[in-house]
Amino acid sequence: MKKRKLLYIHIPFCDSKCNYCAFNSYTNLNHLKKEYFDAIKKQFLFENDTKDYYTVFIGGGTPSTMSVTFYEKLFSLLSPYIKKVKEITIECNPNTSKEWLKEIKNFGVNRISFGVQSFNENKLKFLNRNHSPKQAIEAIISAKEAGFENINLDLIYSTAIDTEELLNNDLKTAFSLPINHISAYSLTIEKNTKWENDYTKRQENEELEINFINKIKEKFLQYEISNFGNQCLHNLGYWEGLEYTGIGAGAVGFKKNYRYYTQTDVNKYIKNPIKYTYEKLSPQDLKKEKVFLGLRSILGFEKNILNENEKERAEILINEKKLYEKEGKIYSFDFLLADALSAYILE
Ligand SMILES: C[S@@+](CC[C@H](N)C(=O)[O-])C[C@H]1O[C@@H](n2cnc3c(N)ncnc32)[C@H](O)[C@@H]1O
Ligand code: SF4
Repeated sequence: MKKRKLLYIHIPFCDSKCNYCAFNSYTNLNHLKKEYFDAIKKQFLFENDTKDYYTVFIGGGTPSTMSVTFYEKLFSLLSPYIKKVKEITIECNPNTSKEWLKEIKNFGVNRISFGVQSFNENKLKFLNRNHSPKQAIEAIISAKEAGFENINLDLIYSTAIDTEELLNNDLKTAFSLPINHISAYSLTIEKNTKWENDYTKRQENEELEINFINKIKEKFLQYEISNFGNQCLHNLGYWEGLEYTGIGAGAVGFKKNYRYYTQTDVNKYIKNPIKYTYEKLSPQDLKKEKVFLGLRSILGFEKNILNENEKERAEILINEKKLYEKEGKIYSFDFLLADALSAYILE
């Protein structure tokens, strides 16, 4: 079977900057949007060595800040390479209009992901989101009405202002909407954000976290640490170790045994979109990734990639009922332990 290959396209523009977010995204570079298309076109045509991408993921930043005209041009560029594509995802801010959603659907996008974070007005303000709970609800209903069957919403938990009631209400609203996927992210405090080093914005409360995750699991299958519901083929592709092309400022690509990184600075990227830095991955690095990514998802990993010592340590974890083996593959019972378990196996 021909190797499946993934395509990621990064849109580095946002309407406002959230307090927690370290993604490569900017609110003051809107004047570069037109030139940005020319740059991604140049990089895509330089990179393209695949006739048929398996999945496409347009992420950001906020892809929904780009006009329909931008996507018209983008999909006419991509169309010869996505004839057999299985999934095209686009990330949206919940203030997206129904008209935009309809147009995007017509280009073949079949999965939509909304950065909702919460349906609580105070929490949205705390995070510095620029949408209201009402807008999020309306956007999701509009997406369904526009014909989207695969709708995800992102939620953030473990913030300082979370309570059991707040999180339960968020899930109650989420479950009442026509979604088939939730990505739930525990807040991380990142460098180069407004909240850099300010751990008071996070809440360490294991009981609250477990309750929240268990409530999501009652409704949707957990198939990775942060992902629940109808499996996103693109993300599964990453965890399976498939090759991916990364297009756009600050995008990452992966081929055979190396990763490449484009320039993150949007001006510099536009000037030279094919200036890459490379990271070579040793066989041990590649093995580590297979084990770690396998254990944090339902995919597991092939036992025969381990050497004899590693197999022995994996056996110990199997006996301790932390891992299980099925048809030559090893799986984890608890994805949250992936870090510790893979470190133990590989030492
Ligand atoms: C590219 S954004 C999604 C699309 C759009 N930009 C938006 O926010 O509406 C990806 C997601 O990453 C999550 N995220 C970003 N920074 C995070 C952090 N520091 N901790 C937890 N989740 C984070 C948020 O849930 C966000 O929706
Ligand atoms: S969470 Fe989304 S909207 Fe907020 S700054 Fe990050 S990419 Fe932009």
